[in-house]
Amino acid sequence: MTMPAEAANVKSYLDKVRRTTDRLMDRFMPGEEAEPQMLHRAMRYSVMAGGKRLRPVLAYAAYEYCGGETGGDDLGIHRAMVALEMVHTYSLIHDDLPCMDDDDLRRGMPTCHKRFGEAVAVLAGDALHDLAFDLMASTGSTETVTELARAIGTEGMLGGQMADIEAEGREVSREEVVNIHRRKTGALIRCSVRVGAILAAADAELLEKLSIYGEKIGLAFQIIDDILDIEGDQQLLGKKTGADSKKQKATYPAAVGVKQARDDAERLIEEAVAVFDQFDETMLKHIAGYIGQRKQ
Ligand code: IPE
Ligand code: IPE
Ligand code: MG
Ligand code: MG
Ligand code: MG
Repeated sequence: MTMPAEAANVKSYLDKVRRTTDRLMDRFMPGEEAEPQMLHRAMRYSVMAGGKRLRPVLAYAAYEYCGGETGGDDLGIHRAMVALEMVHTYSLIHDDLPCMDDDDLRRGMPTCHKRFGEAVAVLAGDALHDLAFDLMASTGSTETVTELARAIGTEGMLGGQMADIEAEGREVSREEVVNIHRRKTGALIRCSVRVGAILAAADAELLEKLSIYGEKIGLAFQIIDDILDIEGDQQLLGKKTGADSKKQKATYPAAVGVKQARDDAERLIEEAVAVFDQFDETMLKHIAGYIGQRKQ
């Protein structure tokens, strides 16, 4: 099957940065032989199970866009990429717990608590969170540490997760879902873009432009996640479909219907791309396009 040049281009970029991220993750994770072995095994199990590595990809693409130095293999951006993916993986481990979404399958494998038990899964999530901040601090930029802390705290991801749980089983308006999605998923995605820009010493104007881009693709990303739960392929996604309706989750399609959800996601992607000049051939535009089209 042939692909349009642009799609092939973004795919090879995503693959390249994903492979780099996988290598970096392996380097910065404690070995399985190190004590406490069970905990390190569980952390590695969830982190190395794969995933798209979208947050590191976004951080790196924003860093490149802002003219960050790319020579060398232990740069601040590398540590930040690992930190972002560790935080994301921690959020997935906890999100899957029986007391949260109660899911059995993640990244094509049994969820962390299914494989290691709940207590170990809780600790593995906590440990990834701690290691992430250790790494982010080692970039030497306190600003990125603050960014991450705020993005995933009660005003960001955790606030969104709290609202998501509270909204379970009842009807929600579009505004309410947007408010949940912006926080539970959008905040870390926006943060990833910002961290890349900050490490490249972007000025305030550029940072603001990229923040708007991050905010829009972040919301679109979760709207599409909700659509894929209805229409997606379980095999490709590596997680069970139909889980949201089973748990009566507050999803975007539940609030406005699938067709409107698709249209809104598409509009958000267009708006994200429009943040850049028409002739600006940045990979960030193509990544936004990929998010709009993604099947996994
Ligand atoms: C899944 O995130 C959870 C959401 C925030 C929607 P991803 O779809 O990025 O999951 P991985 O990292 O590729 O497994
Ligand atoms: C996950 O949202 C958001 C976070 C993990 C913070 P979902 O609950 O929709 O993610 P999936 O569908 O389980 O991957
Ligand atoms: Mg959830
Ligand atoms: Mg979930
Ligand atoms: Mg989901």
